[in-house]
Amino acid sequence: MCGIVGYIGNKKATDVLINGLSKLEYRGYDSAGCAVNSGDSLEVRKFKGRLSVLEENLNENPLNGTLGIGHTRWATHGAPSDVNSHPHLNMDGTIAVVHNGIIENYLQLKDWLISEGKVFKSETDTEVIAHLIDYYYEGDLLDAVYKAMAKLRGAYAIGVISKDHPDKLVAVRKESPLVVGIGENENFIASDIPALLKYTRDVYFLENGEVVYLTKDEVKIFNENREEVKRDIYHVTWDAEAASKGGFDHFMIKEINEQPKGIKETLIRRLDENGKIKLDDIKLTKEDLEKINKVYIVACGTAYHAGLVGKYAIEKFAKIPVETDIASEFRYRDPFVDENTLLIVVSQSGETADTLAALKEARSKGARILAITNVVGSSIAREADDVFYTWAGPEVAVASTKAYTTQLVSLYMIALDFAIKKGTITEEVYRQTIKELEFASDKVQEIINNADKIEKIADSIKDAQNAFYLGRGLDYYIAMEGALKIKEISYMHAEAFAAGELKHGTIALIEENTPVIAIASQDYLFEKMISNMKEVKARGAFVIALAKEGNKEVEKVADKVIYIPEVSDILSSILTVVPLQILSYYVAVKRGCDVDKPRNLAKSVTVE
Ligand code: F6R
Repeated sequence: MCGIVGYIGNKKATDVLINGLSKLEYRGYDSAGCAVNSGDSLEVRKFKGRLSVLEENLNENPLNGTLGIGHTRWATHGAPSDVNSHPHLNMDGTIAVVHNGIIENYLQLKDWLISEGKVFKSETDTEVIAHLIDYYYEGDLLDAVYKAMAKLRGAYAIGVISKDHPDKLVAVRKESPLVVGIGENENFIASDIPALLKYTRDVYFLENGEVVYLTKDEVKIFNENREEVKRDIYHVTWDAEAASKGGFDHFMIKEINEQPKGIKETLIRRLDENGKIKLDDIKLTKEDLEKINKVYIVACGTAYHAGLVGKYAIEKFAKIPVETDIASEFRYRDPFVDENTLLIVVSQSGETADTLAALKEARSKGARILAITNVVGSSIAREADDVFYTWAGPEVAVASTKAYTTQLVSLYMIALDFAIKKGTITEEVYRQTIKELEFASDKVQEIINNADKIEKIADSIKDAQNAFYLGRGLDYYIAMEGALKIKEISYMHAEAFAAGELKHGTIALIEENTPVIAIASQDYLFEKMISNMKEVKARGAFVIALAKEGNKEVEKVADKVIYIPEVSDILSSILTVVPLQILSYYVAVKRGCDVDKPRNLAKSVTVE
């Protein structure tokens, strides 16, 4: 959470900072600020509210200078306010710091710094960094940053500038993401690549604990022991356009529309000339798989929901017991993991703090780690033994859509690959399922082409206070994802239930006109779902059913029906989730919500 940017070069720093921050607002948008070295002073502007507040202020009253740092905040310590906004300064305003992460020992440090005479203005953990650097500063900014780092505990990416050094930017990466952009007579730092793409495609990924020293003509990277390290330049090949709205009203609907492409790319790029799955660099052999007696899939939020489908697929195809767990639970519950365990972590951003910690926990117990992530070079990608990249392209909207469907495809592919290697499915089932996966992209397109029908259905539930999502088997997991989607962007209270559990309590909540979204894509459970729909209908619910084309029976019970194209039960999840994403999107739009930036949320949760 939080996004940071830094610039040193010949351009007006605030132009670069504002542009960069606009690409990072998905990381938090409680407040925004910047500090610029104007040659003889450090000038700071910071405001509660969206980036536009800062931008307007800078338009009216510009800041000159070609060295600066900027920040967009997702509040952790201290409420969103001008004073808690970044950058934070030392007492005489000569050192400015922007920070993404959490300083765990900030209270101890704060007490100590106060006893040393430092006066604090904000409630943030970040302010201790500014005072700490000041405490150690004796003319050498890099040295002071190193000394401050030795005291800090927690996760942080920081950018630091000083009034005394109009030609220097120092930054640190410890657990939180940070990339360095390399330009001609200019250099950059940013929390994420899209912030740099207007200016450069050449980047350095920093390793944990590394410190980077930038002037406009050089970039030097140092390790924790202050030794200079050499790093290869990574050239970004994806299009900057991929991170812009491209004519859509919101990123979310754009990303929903990009799903057919993402699904196809994720699959096709891993099929060899014989149509068999080749899992990039994943080096799990038949012998390795024979040794694995347990798979954990660990993730958060939407990625966790993908993991639930992954459990189903791996158990069904590869016959290995799988447990799916929430990363923040897994990391603290001393899970039974040993060297015969495979841990699959799923993370769009590759930076989620809990998922990363779960990975480290499992690694310390000897597990092999396979990461499914969308971000090349992310922390999770670099920590894992094997990586499977989803080909969703950059996902900007806070609500995850295309990352989720590509995660599903990845998990199905991994399950099929394990199964064929272990001999737990026949060649025929293997080929048939891959064929079906190949058709999934066109089928998702068909659903998207009918979005206007779903938009009309959104009209009938847009004013509801509560909604319930029901499903059985795989559909229950999709119900969970559907409920999360509508909650996070439209603020409608929604809960998912296993339809068979309804009678054990939940049905008491059904009132006249309560929307119930019933997902009935599993042929073998279809009749059971029809019965559950009847039960809620009899108690006044407004039933929206999701069923496969051909299952017209459902029209007799439901008030509205959304059909998905024919698909086998096991792969239906790739399709069923799409109408639920579209429904959530239109409900949120009709309720006047800020779809891409829902309140209290951030795209990348890099704090615990
Ligand atoms: C919901 C959503 C979140 C993320 C979760 C994990 O739409 O996007 O629930 O899925 O924060 O994030 P990643 O996948 O980046 O680890």
